[in-house]
Amino acid sequence: MRRVIFLGPPGAGKGTQAASLAREMDVPHLSTGDLLRAAVAAQSELGREAEGHMKAGRLVPDDLVLRLLRERLDQPDARDGFLLDGFPRNVAQAVSLGRITLVDRVLDFRIPSASLIERLTQRRNCPKCRRVYNLRTQPPRNDAVCDDDGTLLVTRPDDREEAVRTRLRVYDTETAPLSEYYRGRGILRPIDALGEPAEVARRVRAAVADLTGSSEPL
Ligand code: AP5
Repeated sequence: MRRVIFLGPPGAGKGTQAASLAREMDVPHLSTGDLLRAAVAAQSELGREAEGHMKAGRLVPDDLVLRLLRERLDQPDARDGFLLDGFPRNVAQAVSLGRITLVDRVLDFRIPSASLIERLTQRRNCPKCRRVYNLRTQPPRNDAVCDDDGTLLVTRPDDREEAVRTRLRVYDTETAPLSEYYRGRGILRPIDALGEPAEVARRVRAAVADLTGSSEPL
């Protein structure tokens, strides 16, 4: 099976790597951040509850996120596998996930925190196709619009420096212990997330090659 989790601090490059890997593995890319942002944009009851937590860089309460994730995992396209990006975020979420499904591999993106603030404050996102840009390292061809579909790029409200610092602190205290949690289960693979995106992509593919049945990295 191809049930994969991307673990790693904000800005480590999880979203940048996830879309193409999910396509190649033929599994859905499930980002709890994207699901929550869609709920906020729709101003659903759950979205209104989540919005303040997200803007400030705090985790959204577990029960809300679990509700969203369960609904998404129940859909038929997630039956044979998934690429989970941004979940679990603490040990309680990992335990809940373990009650819903098995997990085959956890890729642990490692990067010095000094690189992260610059990566995030320079990030721009396409709200339509979810492509991720960086004004310094992966700029769009035309200043403010997506290369693929011409949509106006946006800056996430939680990419302000103050919220970024909160997110990094929350990661260290709540999410980082998951490395030990999954190492103990023998399914953790560290990924060096520094370097060109294409180089990181090669490391990512090597870490899942056995799950996809390819003798070569994908
Ligand atoms: P979420 O959307 O999950 O954000 P995150 O985990 O903070 O991760 P990011 O999306 O910020 O970073 P990324 O690793 O995907 O980096 P990216 O590829 O974009 O969560 C947002 C919020 O939602 C949370 O704070 C919380 O409030 C809530 N939430 C979500 N899930 C939750 C849960 N399970 N429980 C509770 N709350 C939850 O790259 C970053 C930048 O770097 C880009 O500009 C990119 O172009 C650039 N870059 C990428 N790779 C490279 C490279 N190799 N070299 C140079 N630059 C690069």
